[in-house]
Amino acid sequence: MEIHRILHTLKWQLRLRLLVIPLLTMTACGANTESVSDNTCGVVGAGKDQARYDHYRIYNVQFDNEEQIALFQQLEKESDSLTFIGHAREIGQKLSILVAAHRVADFADLLETYKLQHRVLTYNFQEKIDRNMREVLPEHIDASKYDWQHFFHLKTIYDWMDRMAAKYPDQLSVLNLGSSTQGNDIKGVKVGNNPANKAIFIESGIHAREWIAPATATYIINELLNSTDERVQKLAKNYNWFVFPCVNPDGYKYTFEHDRMWRKNRQLFGTCRGVDLNRNYPDHWNSTGSSSDPTRYDFAGPSAASELETQRLIEFIRENVEKEQIKTYIALHSYSQMLMFPYGYTKEHVSNYDDLQEFGKKASAAIKAESGRDYVSGNLYETIYPSSGGSMDWAHAEAGIPIAYTFELRGPPDSQDLFILPAVEIQPTASEAFTAIRTIVEAAAEKGYYK
Ligand SMILES: *[C@@H]1O[C@H](CO)[C@@H](O)[C@H](O)[C@H]1NC(C)=O
Ligand SMILES: *[C@@H]1O[C@H](CO)[C@@H](O)[C@H](O)[C@H]1NC(C)=O
Ligand SMILES: [Zn+2]
Repeated sequence: MEIHRILHTLKWQLRLRLLVIPLLTMTACGANTESVSDNTCGVVGAGKDQARYDHYRIYNVQFDNEEQIALFQQLEKESDSLTFIGHAREIGQKLSILVAAHRVADFADLLETYKLQHRVLTYNFQEKIDRNMREVLPEHIDASKYDWQHFFHLKTIYDWMDRMAAKYPDQLSVLNLGSSTQGNDIKGVKVGNNPANKAIFIESGIHAREWIAPATATYIINELLNSTDERVQKLAKNYNWFVFPCVNPDGYKYTFEHDRMWRKNRQLFGTCRGVDLNRNYPDHWNSTGSSSDPTRYDFAGPSAASELETQRLIEFIRENVEKEQIKTYIALHSYSQMLMFPYGYTKEHVSNYDDLQEFGKKASAAIKAESGRDYVSGNLYETIYPSSGGSMDWAHAEAGIPIAYTFELRGPPDSQDLFILPAVEIQPTASEAFTAIRTIVEAAAEKGYYK
């Protein structure tokens, strides 16, 4: 009898505690939702179900023999606690791997046993994410606060585009391709409206976690409208620009609200989610460098162009490639500092390989001169890794857009931050990316691509 009473009391105490703690948390945060720097409340996603990466390590490993490669291919297949940034493929290759805290001992033992050369780049990945989340301004701030010293929610980016349309009604219009899988609009802008102009299309944010891409896209929009540099003004005057900062809006939102490392869209497949939209395009789809397993980061989808986001983009390009004379397609990604042209699915050369190679080299030289950063240029297949179903291959081969590049922006291939680029690097990264685009467009113009 006595025991029963005690248990009963304990149960109530527990229930009360469960009830009281969330209430306290809610009150504390409610008063402080606008605070950016506050650690518990202003931080993006606080109070929601959010992935954490405490004491996750980033290793950079090098493969010196076939046995090590086979071992790591096997390891990637069987473990969901190791996030590979690329696949093990060839001797001499260096690969970054994010290792879950509970696998650190295991993993370190494996490296030792099989004598892999390696470095630990980061010891606690969550610290990078925490720092990054403090660089995000609150979702509902006024769009006049938009800048290139912070990262911004989807809503703020869209509000900012509307604001720019109001500010520059003659030069900028907002375009809406329609909704994503989860019902978010896919919006972009058209800058310039001279019907005689050739057009340049910039796609950004297809991979959700690569936040520097949307930041760079909005920087370019702003530069086109507001730069006092004559070279930029000339480009704004002589070309029409289509810029879509967030072509994967569901994924982008998810990185703010639930998991900073999310890459794909949010399509549901039983127990897991997401198609890699940059493996979903209908050009040599599912032929190389993609997965048919929905749990994988590079899942190509159940069929070519299965995803609404892919379909929206394809439809827009198909409808406008002739009408708007779209001659250049740039896709913005991070990280690795690379300027790549087609193909991704084969090492065979495109018909204008020499030109694209030349423009890419000029662009990386221009970046080097501007910021001292090294960007490697070349065809995608040989420069980063083979992959099929990418938007750039489709834009070039299927839509017939002759100048097509995929940029991997900062940081370097052995970055300690992976996709979590510090906000102080937004401005220089965006500036050097725009310099590269300018260089490519000017060089292509000289070769007669926009005649
Ligand atoms: C250009 O941008 C600067 C800095 O953001 C701003 O102060 C200025 O008003 C802008 N100029 C125009 C013409 O919009
Ligand atoms: C994708 O390719 C893999 C490997 O060749 C194959 O097993 C799979 O059936 C393909 N998926 C589809 C939907 O065709
Ligand atoms: Zn990417």
